[in-house]
This record gives sequence, structure tokens and C-alpha cells, in this order.
Amino acid sequence: MRHTLDEYARNDPKILRVYSTARRIYDKENRYHHNFDQVLRDLYRALIIGTDEGSVDYSILIPSVLLHDIGFSDPSFEHVGHDVAGALLAERLLADLGYGKTAIKAISHCIRAHKGKAESPETLEAKILYDADVLEKSGLVFLILAGKIVCEFGETIDDLLKRESTDRANELKTGFYTRKAKELDGGRLKQVLALLSQIKHEIKNDRPDFEISEQDLWIEPPQKTSV
Ligand SMILES: [Fe+2]
Ligand SMILES: [Fe+2]
Repeated sequence: MRHTLDEYARNDPKILRVYSTARRIYDKENRYHHNFDQVLRDLYRALIIGTDEGSVDYSILIPSVLLHDIGFSDPSFEHVGHDVAGALLAERLLADLGYGKTAIKAISHCIRAHKGKAESPETLEAKILYDADVLEKSGLVFLILAGKIVCEFGETIDDLLKRESTDRANELKTGFYTRKAKELDGGRLKQVLALLSQIKHEIKNDRPDFEISEQDLWIEPPQKTSV
């Protein structure tokens, strides 16, 4: 069975407008990881999970997935988090695209709750988005994607390992909300957490060479010159 967007866009023409707006925002930002490709993967997963769940409101779910990471396009994300920044930005965009108050509130909740931090997912659509986004980190592929995240945030491997280990542990504690997501995960989230701590252990105990900086090679480092 193919999971495509055509029929949903036919039933709700606003979906196409959100799709084009979202694609334009992510493409302009051009991030290594939090880009439109990542959104499409989440969308694909959300449609698979939705089919298994039954009574899903796709006019809420699809815009929520499309807009869930637009918070990264607003500098305020560094202070309030990209979930909250994204929800506020989405509220303004959706109003401009002709969405009513009830739909905006429902979509905003999904975006705000997609990390399970600012809010916990209360509605079925919010739970599906949360699960679809956690599945992005469940699998060995995540170790490759993690390299993109390091580049995107301009951070150290140590920063990444600390944050992602904490996030994976919290996600495992929360668990998946939907049956299909649990099935797709198949224990991979737990495996990723184990691998992250294996990497941490290796760097700390056996291979500190991966963490050295210029200071480790000099007693008196040479001055930087402009040429
Ligand atoms: Fe996100
Ligand atoms: Fe995401």
C-alpha cells in the first residue's frame, strides 16, 4: 500500500498551500538536518502510523508535520526552543493561509508537543507527530544523521553525545504512543542509546585522541596570524 498525499490535498486544498510555504521556509534555511527532507520522512511515517490508527484528522496532522521544525527559522528558538518558536510562527502563518481558530490551536499543540518537552502530546494527531519524529532517531542511520546535527549546530561530539543520550533516555522512558510506531522501532531506539553510551565510553577510556584540541599538542601554542 502506498502512502501518498494526493487524496488529502484534494480533500483539503489548504494542505497544498501549507506544503509550499513549509518547503520554501526549510529550503531558505538550508539546514544540514532539520530540512524539508527530514520533514518528508516524518510525514511518510505519520501517514503509515495514521493508517493503522484509524480516526485521524489529516487536516490537522499533515500541516502539523509540515511545520513542526519551522521554529529553527526564527532566532528566538535559541531561547524558547524550536518547538515553542515553531508553534508561534505556525499560528501566524496558518492565520494568513485562511485557517480558523480551532484548527490553529490543534496544529499549534502538535508542534509545541512534538519534543514532549514544552507540552505533552494530548491529541491523537500530536501523538502521531511525536512518534514519527522519535522514529527519526531510532535506527543505525541516526549515527550518520548525528554527524549532520554536529555540523548544523556547530557543536562538539561531546555536546551531541550528552544531549542525544539524555533525549533518547527520556524518549525510552515515555515510550511510543502508537502501536505502529512501536512496531517500526523494533527496539532500535534502545540500541541507539546503547551505542551512544558505547561511543562516550570509548572516547573517555580508550580513545581520548578523538577529543584533543590544539592545546594538547603545545605547551606554548603559536599565535594565529592573518596570513
Ligand atoms: Fe523538532
Ligand atoms: Fe523533526
